[in-house]
Amino acid sequence: MGIGLRPLIAGNWKMNGTLAFGLDLAQALDARYRALGREAGVDVLLCPPSTALHAVSSDLARAGSGLFIGGQDCHAHQAGAYTGDISPAMLRDCGARYVILGHSERRARHHERDDDIHAKAVAARAAGLIPIICVGETLAERESGLAQSVICRQLAGSVPTDGIGADLVVAYEPVWAIGTGKIPAAADIAAIHSAIRDHLVGRVGNGSLTRLLYGGSVNAENAEQILALPHVNGALVGGASLSATQFWPIVEAGRKSCSK
Ligand code: PGA
Repeated sequence: MGIGLRPLIAGNWKMNGTLAFGLDLAQALDARYRALGREAGVDVLLCPPSTALHAVSSDLARAGSGLFIGGQDCHAHQAGAYTGDISPAMLRDCGARYVILGHSERRARHHERDDDIHAKAVAARAAGLIPIICVGETLAERESGLAQSVICRQLAGSVPTDGIGADLVVAYEPVWAIGTGKIPAAADIAAIHSAIRDHLVGRVGNGSLTRLLYGGSVNAENAEQILALPHVNGALVGGASLSATQFWPIVEAGRKSCSK
């Protein structure tokens, strides 16, 4: 179950970078990706801030790049009086193929609940985007032995059943591992990924086709070990995605893992 899925290495640039920075970074990664040739064996996704998304995506499209572009969030409606928001249709129009939803920074700071994320995921799919739905426990929840139950509750509330399959990605991101340099023990990552897989497959047979990413302090040193774990089909990378020299070894680790 979930074995043999093409790995996905996603860079979440968060609220970082000017247009010039984003274009430079995307071009540097595109050159490396191109050098892998036709059988790269790994999908690479860049999620720039929305101010840079269109410029980066059209620059890559002009160059015939194989890199994917994604948004970091979207609204649950395709258009309307929602000042400051961006719709899934607009992201798609700008060349995005994916959208990150329910990142813990949005759950915590923008008070997004599972049902908000569910509505966004339905709208994203309707616009032709692949949602990357993030779940993860806080440190207090982990220390109380609640990690698995919290994650299953988040999955039940935020993942639309009819969306489960190849056109959905789930990212396990322990809140306490994001940007801290701390990561769970390999056995703990494997246990949560296996629980996520069981949850998805328990709801729909197609759950075996959904790629499961690990995120939280992934870097060039730990990527290979994390990506070799069962049911880890890629990584969602924050800090290390802001530099081609730090991000690329993670992509290489993803390539290696496709033979596991
Ligand atoms: P990090 O962020 O790699 O900087 O820990 C991961 C994320 O927030 O997606």
